[in-house]
Amino acid sequence: WETALRHIVEAGIDRHSYIIAVGGGAFLDVAGFAAATAHRSIRLLRIPTTTLSQADSGVGVKNGINFMGRKNYLGTFAVAWATLDDFLFLHSQPLSLKRAGLAEVVKVAVVKDASFFNWLEANASALAGCERDALEYAVEHSALLHASHIACGGDAFELGSSRPLDFGHWAAHYMETMSGYTLGHAEAVSVGMCLDILYSVRKGWLPAAEAERIVSVLKTLELPVFHPLLSRRTEDGACEVLKGLEAFREHLGGHLTVLMLTGIGRGKDVHEIDAALMEECIREMQEAAGDSVQE
Ligand SMILES: NC(=O)c1ccc[n+]([C@@H]2O[C@H](COP(=O)([O-])OP(=O)(O)OC[C@H]3O[C@@H](n4cnc5c(N)ncnc54)[C@H](O)[C@@H]3O)[C@@H](O)[C@H]2O)c1
Ligand SMILES: [Zn+2]
Repeated sequence: WETALRHIVEAGIDRHSYIIAVGGGAFLDVAGFAAATAHRSIRLLRIPTTTLSQADSGVGVKNGINFMGRKNYLGTFAVAWATLDDFLFLHSQPLSLKRAGLAEVVKVAVVKDASFFNWLEANASALAGCERDALEYAVEHSALLHASHIACGGDAFELGSSRPLDFGHWAAHYMETMSGYTLGHAEAVSVGMCLDILYSVRKGWLPAAEAERIVSVLKTLELPVFHPLLSRRTEDGACEVLKGLEAFREHLGGHLTVLMLTGIGRGKDVHEIDAALMEECIREMQEAAGDSVQE
């Protein structure tokens, strides 16, 4: 961020200039934060280059950088002047990165749009191979769903506590921090969603058959459905990832709000999490993954 600001100063960029940021989600976050804070904000044109940033973060209104061991602790809400999704960039990514970004596409489908999920399910193999037409359609539809939620959802700047687009993210963000940021956001979101999907099933809110369909699409996309960090324990024996709920509660000012699924394309906000049940879900996922190692 400081490096970006130095470039802005050295280039003599003024309040009537534009900053054009071309890159993936992490780069757009850094450039966006610098653009929002230099001269109290300079117009920003975002050109996202990854699946994840074209389908999700590039059309968002937030930027964030990690600070003092906390994911996205520093950042602003800042609407980009424009975002340009150029599909030529999509196809220049390595296959694993290209495919991983589809985690956020699945996410927005399962919280917002059942018929889009049906399409993703029907085209999962083509998407796993990142076939051009399927990938472009998925990215475009996801970007539109994200943008329309932000523009028409009634809380673009997150003054309330409801964050449907952050489905699965409380665990995802915390696992990223636990991993020292070696675990990618897309992979963490995939695992975080699987946890909240299973919790939703165990609570009786989500039919098991619908959960299986979602997990099966994630598997076809070669996204992880478990990570050993979920089972990691602190020195006093507590399940470490559950601290992510407390971090999220603190972030929201003490009143926890987490979206759980009630069906494909539908969710509901819950304000209490049964920690013992969440731990049971983690154990079940670990067993299903055949991972008996406690990290
Ligand atoms: N601000 C938000 O609302 C928001 C939302 C979701 C995610 N994010 C953030 O986005 C980040 C993840 O973004 P990402 O998945 O784009 O990964 P990334 O930004 O970490 O990029 C991954 C790698 O891909 C390379 N790359 C980018 N585009 C390429 C291309 N077209 N061809 C070849 N290589 C290319 C980059 O140089 C980088 O090494 C996380 O830090 C996450 O926190 C932010
Ligand atoms: Zn995300």
